[in-house]
Amino acid sequence: MKAIYFGKTTNYASIFLFFAEIFVQLIFLLYLRPATLRRNPSKVQSQYPATDNYFAQTTKLCKHISFFCRNICTIDFFVVPLHRILITIIFVTTFFVIIMHMENPFKFGSIVEDEFFTDRVQETEYICHYLQSRNHLVLISPRRFGKSSLVLKAVKKVDRPYIQLNLQKVTSIADFAAKLLREIYNTHTWTKIKDQVMRFRVIPTITTNQVTGAIEVGFQPTQDQRVLLEDVFALMENAHTESDRLVVILDEFQEIRAISPLLEKTLRAIMQEQKHINYILLGSQESMMTDIFENVQSPFYHFGGLMRLKKLPREEFEEYLRTRFEPVFHAQAADLTQQVLDYTQCHPYYTQELAFYMWQVGMWEKKKENVKQTAIREIIDAYDLSYERIWMNFNRTDMWVLQRLAAHAELQTGEYRTSTIYSALKRLQHAGHVIYTDRFELEDPFFGEWLVAKH
Ligand SMILES: Nc1ncnc2c1ncn2[C@@H]1O[C@H](COP(=O)(O)OP(=O)(O)OP(=O)(O)O)[C@@H](O)[C@H]1O
Ligand SMILES: [Mg+2]
Repeated sequence: MKAIYFGKTTNYASIFLFFAEIFVQLIFLLYLRPATLRRNPSKVQSQYPATDNYFAQTTKLCKHISFFCRNICTIDFFVVPLHRILITIIFVTTFFVIIMHMENPFKFGSIVEDEFFTDRVQETEYICHYLQSRNHLVLISPRRFGKSSLVLKAVKKVDRPYIQLNLQKVTSIADFAAKLLREIYNTHTWTKIKDQVMRFRVIPTITTNQVTGAIEVGFQPTQDQRVLLEDVFALMENAHTESDRLVVILDEFQEIRAISPLLEKTLRAIMQEQKHINYILLGSQESMMTDIFENVQSPFYHFGGLMRLKKLPREEFEEYLRTRFEPVFHAQAADLTQQVLDYTQCHPYYTQELAFYMWQVGMWEKKKENVKQTAIREIIDAYDLSYERIWMNFNRTDMWVLQRLAAHAELQTGEYRTSTIYSALKRLQHAGHVIYTDRFELEDPFFGEWLVAKH
């Protein structure tokens, strides 16, 4: 069972049916069958030899049904096929319930936990050490490398209270204060924070959305939005102690510069006074994050430890994929695993995405040939429209650079000046279409595939 992944519903349903089946077997063996044998031993034994095993019996279903129909009036013969039909029905139902609910064992697009999360053992330990100290941590990686999943795993491991906010969703300083307050409200008891909220210089309004049921927090418009932030940050600090420090995770932290030019300085001034909070600041814009934390002029210069997250190690990902492919692809599983990792270069998100589609192809379309190619075709078909939209917004130089990268071709062809190519790469990297690991490459390999196919 180790390598087979069923959903929770299936587990309960199949366990229930399994026991029901054993129960019916026992009833028959302990009660009905001996009684039948007593009444007409020679006839029954010749029809159902004692050596019949369970599977052999169930495969004889058709024979039993006709036997049942012919002898429906005779109680001796009625009992035997009835039991067998019951068992067969339960067996077949169990089988279909399992098949219908067999979950795809790959997950992409949102935070992964538990059985979907693999490796990152050292990184998890490293973050845990930071959380057990008085220091803050800055975590940088290109998009969808697994920052949020990793941090969540570490925070849950140290079992500390935490709040999380994505700065990409914040529109102003007042909005930042309101969203933070909402998170505090959602994770703390009202009695713990009430007194201090009542002393805020600008009283917030906290309401429940009638449609969604979600908590909504707002502040009255004010001239000095800084006081909102000061009050909310003071609340987080005062609601905790040295032995019960709060973890505050701020995602896409580089957006701080887009929210307000004042924010960086204000925030740093507030944060450096705090003693009961560990900050984890995540970012996917490498150059901006480096500038915020490594530039001597920046308010956040050397604010905390800097950690750069890499792709997942190949051996770990191999094991993860192979064990999940095996129930569907059997002997082909190891080879398909290598094909996926060669293609995605161990990018966490795209590996899970490609593996997801390949599993679908094997499981439901029952294809065992050209599985990877079929899955890639399905992915690019699914994204065709959105790729088209993205493509229409590039300028000519960017289009050229993207096409060269997609074809794994040389960039220095003399067609464009080196400085022009370099600016295009930086621009595309900033927008998240290109990443730099040991070389420049397209962030989304399927977009590259689409480009090669369509242009
Ligand atoms: N440790 C892991 N094991 C398996 N898959 C992973 C792991 N980490 C990430 N992934 C895959 O990558 C996807 C993105 O993960 P996550 O959202 O944590 O990344 P992120 O860096 O926070 O992304 P974003 O830049 O969009 O915020 C997950 O949905 C999952 O498919
Ligand atoms: Mg994230």
